[in-house]
Amino acid sequence: MARTPLMAGNWKMNLNHIEAIALVQKLAYTFNTDDFSALEIAVIPPFTDIRSVQTLVDGDKIALKYGAQDLAKADKGAFTGEISGVMLAKLGCTFVIVGHSERRQFHGEDDQTVNLKVQAALRNGLTPIVCVGEGTEVRNAGDHVAFTLNQLKAALSGVAAGDVANLVVAYEPVWAIGTGEVATPANAQEVCGAIRNQIREVFGSAADQVRVLYGGSMKADNVAALMKEPDIDGGLVGGASLDPDEFVSVCRYRLHP
Ligand code: PGA
Repeated sequence: MARTPLMAGNWKMNLNHIEAIALVQKLAYTFNTDDFSALEIAVIPPFTDIRSVQTLVDGDKIALKYGAQDLAKADKGAFTGEISGVMLAKLGCTFVIVGHSERRQFHGEDDQTVNLKVQAALRNGLTPIVCVGEGTEVRNAGDHVAFTLNQLKAALSGVAAGDVANLVVAYEPVWAIGTGEVATPANAQEVCGAIRNQIREVFGSAADQVRVLYGGSMKADNVAALMKEPDIDGGLVGGASLDPDEFVSVCRYRLHP
């Protein structure tokens, strides 16, 4: 079954809403209908930018998708500082990143939290981009596949089989994030293939529809080789998504020599 590739730009804590408008306008001006029919393209800005991005995308009928970088476990209530899936859905978000390694590392998100956030996303009709991936020590010990599959198992615990086909999983080895040190296509495929196999074992043929992204120093000059791998369906692109020319080039990997 052919899966539509997905390139999602994770802006992290960069660009205010004015800068967000400028970047989305540049992307809208540069991408053409061929781009939008070849793949799904999304931006994942900070919360404070989302309303501006929505207004632009809706007003100009841009085929760009957008989403958020995190969401609360609960849908509403006394949770100062949190943003719920209900609010993100109301803003027209398609995606929400869940369990990014920076959330796990700097905000103490454990597997159970990630699982509750995956459920909160699904409950609100958002597609979670579930992030998994090992750090340097685990990789050096050769335990990267088992470690990553454990994270995935915990993240998807209790998820209904009917919700799985629409999931996105991002394999992001922590040692590759923001370091310029990209995984080799073979190393990325090893884990992305194992991710799909595990989903197939638990949920059956829906695994063929799940998009598995690679993330970690993806750029214009390494994307094409990664995208040739059978189980890599796209990218979660950090640094390279802040530069419109670079992000457009990443999304045009199919045209690279
Ligand atoms: P990077 O970040 O592309 O800057 O390495 C990827 C990510 O953290 O999603």
